[in-house]
Amino acid sequence: MNPEQRINELTDLLNHYNHQYYQNSVSEVDDFTFDRLLEELTTLEQQYPDLRRPDSPTLRVGGTVSKEFPTVFHRFPMLSLGNTYSEAELAEFDTRVRKGLDGAEVEYICELKFDGVALSMTYENGLLVQGATRGDGVRGDEITPNIRTIRTLPLRVKGPNVPALFEVRGEGFLPLAEFERINKEREDIGEPLLANPRNAASGTFKMQDSAVVASRRLDCYLYSFLSEPDIFQTHEESLNAMKAWGFNVSDTWRKCRSLSEVMAFIDEWDTRRFDLPLGTDGIVIKVNRYEQQRQLGYTAKSPRWAIAYKYKALAASTTLDGIQYQVGRTGAVTPVALLKPVLLAGTVVKRASLHNANEIQRLGVMLHDTVFIEKGGEIIPKVTGVDTDKRTALSQPIIYPTHCPACQTELYRREGEAHFYCPNEKFCPPQRQARFEHFIQRRAMNIESLGEGKIELLIDRELVQSPADLYELTAEKLLGLEKAYHDQETGKKRVVSFRQKTVDNILTAIERSKAQPFANVLFALGIRYVGLTTAEKLVDYFGSIDAIAAAPLEALTAAPEVGPRIAQSLVDWFADADNRVFIERLRLAGLQMEGERKVIEQEGSALAGKTFLYTGTFANFSREALEEKIAANGGKLVSSVSKKLNYLIVGENPGPSKISKAEQLGVPMISEEEFQGLL
Ligand code: IVH
Repeated sequence: MNPEQRINELTDLLNHYNHQYYQNSVSEVDDFTFDRLLEELTTLEQQYPDLRRPDSPTLRVGGTVSKEFPTVFHRFPMLSLGNTYSEAELAEFDTRVRKGLDGAEVEYICELKFDGVALSMTYENGLLVQGATRGDGVRGDEITPNIRTIRTLPLRVKGPNVPALFEVRGEGFLPLAEFERINKEREDIGEPLLANPRNAASGTFKMQDSAVVASRRLDCYLYSFLSEPDIFQTHEESLNAMKAWGFNVSDTWRKCRSLSEVMAFIDEWDTRRFDLPLGTDGIVIKVNRYEQQRQLGYTAKSPRWAIAYKYKALAASTTLDGIQYQVGRTGAVTPVALLKPVLLAGTVVKRASLHNANEIQRLGVMLHDTVFIEKGGEIIPKVTGVDTDKRTALSQPIIYPTHCPACQTELYRREGEAHFYCPNEKFCPPQRQARFEHFIQRRAMNIESLGEGKIELLIDRELVQSPADLYELTAEKLLGLEKAYHDQETGKKRVVSFRQKTVDNILTAIERSKAQPFANVLFALGIRYVGLTTAEKLVDYFGSIDAIAAAPLEALTAAPEVGPRIAQSLVDWFADADNRVFIERLRLAGLQMEGERKVIEQEGSALAGKTFLYTGTFANFSREALEEKIAANGGKLVSSVSKKLNYLIVGENPGPSKISKAEQLGVPMISEEEFQGLL
């Protein structure tokens, strides 16, 4: 088989697997095989770039870096919707519609109003050729490489009735679970958390590096189909056709024949919407027949044939009974409002987020005040304001603790940071517990059978102090341990007990964890800013814990993607004698302290002693290939432009900030050809 045939075969096969997985929830192939085929395709495409198909699944993993996004005009303007907030206003809409249609029968399609980012996708001859944001409705940003990372969005649409040119529109979003995963990861490395899923989605769609976009699993629900001429009679037909063509159309829509049916739909979703994978703030009601839509027409901003019904902001008011100060793994102190229980969106709320000391000041809230709470995209409701009219003599100022609520160590705050920190990293109980939880998580040592209060119990009984103690646990020490807990989250009583089966599971998992790859072990150590990806890079570069521990700051920063902040954090961590002992104990227990170093075969020394940074994309190199080429010839890759940088290699679509900084500092810029010339 020649390369072209194989590329075609692999493209079709992988697209088929993707379609089965994302559209039909059928897994026809295991991850390993899939990845191997994808790798084969990637390699072939690198050898024969001209043969890469526009619907290649390799486009989904990103790799394009855009400077500024080009502006594109929308073929059809992207309008907004009028809002209504009550049944009465909705009845007025219904009356207007019926009047505008001279009293004819009317059907509505009710959909959920998804809370994300409006996107528009253009298909030509079945291929996804452009994806854009709404912008001002007339023109938006062209973000095609980022749009292609949406796994549920077909890159090619096939079928006898697919028009040669069409557009689909929908709401791009970050699924709640994905939002939480990303925030968990940020928490892992002590990064500030993303505020809410909507902002996170909007920020992600506008990121310049599509590989980063691809790592965040964005999704999109489609709700409009546009072509000229129209090929459907009704909106319903268009939804069904999009679904049949493989687009992700949420099954939540319903056809309604009367206002009361619409109201029933609204009532039903008022509570059900919280079971969805994304936030929704209302319902969209659309006239079904296109002919009737045309008859009704548009105002300057929005269609007369559609309207949004907004659910009332999910707010409630209650009294602030107290504040609990929680201490996280990195020592950050977070205030949590303890509330008089109140019903909000079908659940009883007892706690709400207060974020940090600044937020308490901003709100001007006092103890025993009546406060407003709201449920937004986040899972935990937040305090949004104070009902000062209801303030009584009982209200008392909140005195922010100066000392850790758990270990009484004095708190400190760094310049410009919102959180206070407890510096007693090693002995502060909640920090210690969080460190254990970090250590046992799946992506670290994968001893999750120790979750759910079990670690707490082991610490409580002084069976473990350091995660290294886990490797000295025995069945005798564990069997029969038992404790009743009052779960603060649920308010329920729970019993944690170590029976034979539980103990077996735990000891097996601990034993098995010894085989976890070194990168996972390195991540498990809980070094600030060292997430799993950074850990993997460090392993590729250094190969062993001893090499990392021995590396001075400069050597650490020479590793790909390790900047001064991570390097300093590593140096500090390894300088601590207790941490060294911790490592030795883990080593003795049999944990992996070495990984496979990606040794780059030396081709020459033409670049010896020189530092490089690149920006944009290149005709003859993928990012990895370029990085390898630099290393293989004695050069060093750095992470940012500085005076010391020897060369900035500039490709297609370079990043504007790197270019201007290089110009400012007088750093030589070279093209891909010039780089090859250096070799
Ligand atoms: S239809 C002309 N359907 O709401 C009508 N919009 O205020 C165009 N939205 O920018 C929009 N869910 O981002 C429609 N099921 C849905 C929607 C929806 C969310 C957003 C969309 C639009 C905004 C309109």
